[in-house]
Amino acid sequence: MKLYNISFSPTGTSAKVATAIIHGIMANIDCRTITLDATHQSVTCEPISKDDLAIISAPVYGGKMASLAKERMKTLTADGTPCILVAVYGNRAFENALNDMSFFTSTLGFVTTGAAAFIGEHSYSTAATPIAVGRPDESDLEYAKAFGLEIARKISLKSLSAIDTTEITDEESPAESLANFKSFVADYMRSQKESPRKLVPEVNTAICNTCGICLSVCPTEAIANDCATIDSSKCMYNHPR
Ligand SMILES: Cc1cc2nc3c(=O)[nH]c(=O)nc-3n(C[C@H](O)[C@H](O)[C@H](O)COP(=O)(O)O)c2cc1C
Repeated sequence: MKLYNISFSPTGTSAKVATAIIHGIMANIDCRTITLDATHQSVTCEPISKDDLAIISAPVYGGKMASLAKERMKTLTADGTPCILVAVYGNRAFENALNDMSFFTSTLGFVTTGAAAFIGEHSYSTAATPIAVGRPDESDLEYAKAFGLEIARKISLKSLSAIDTTEITDEESPAESLANFKSFVADYMRSQKESPRKLVPEVNTAICNTCGICLSVCPTEAIANDCATIDSSKCMYNHPR
């Protein structure tokens, strides 16, 4: 069996959770892993067989699967291949993300046989308004590994079967995360009123040495070669949710 690790993960948290799940699966199942990283480019490969398994991970943006993840993964084709969906969200809410992922991946030929939402540090977390800082932490990753072990158990018993993601409901997030997120958005709205601007990451020119690493890390190529100018129309940070 081949185990496909298909991930879109601009800040690395979805990929971290997917890796922990895969460690759990591989602890008990002999398989070969094929990694398809959709963070910076569209991913392609031969049609994925129904005898294989795919772990598909992506962040939640605006309560849905990140649309750029769909754009980058839509080049894949599967043949009734079982998949495990992993939505990683910043402790605000994952809302409809798993249903959205399940529908999208079904259009590619995957069948959802497992799904989970995990918490990752929110991209809008700041020192003043921390949201899920340091997540996934050690215990999140242990939990992800345990989820992988459970998938392995089902594979061994040949009992991995289609599931209905609408049965997985979002939980109320901790009040502090929600309050800090709301406070971040309120500050943003206030600054918009004072001087309308697009929200893009701020470059700290006092410490930037124009090494260019940011250019290679940015998934949308929004940063210009000077490492300081950011094209807000390309920047995903521009839509706080
Ligand atoms: C444009 C944008 C929209 C987001 N929307 C949500 C959201 O609706 N709910 C939530 O809890 N977190 C939201 N987040 C936070 C991300 O889901 C979270 O930071 C995630 O861990 C990022 O995954 P990655 O590290 O794999 O890129 C959003 C982040 C961005 C950049």
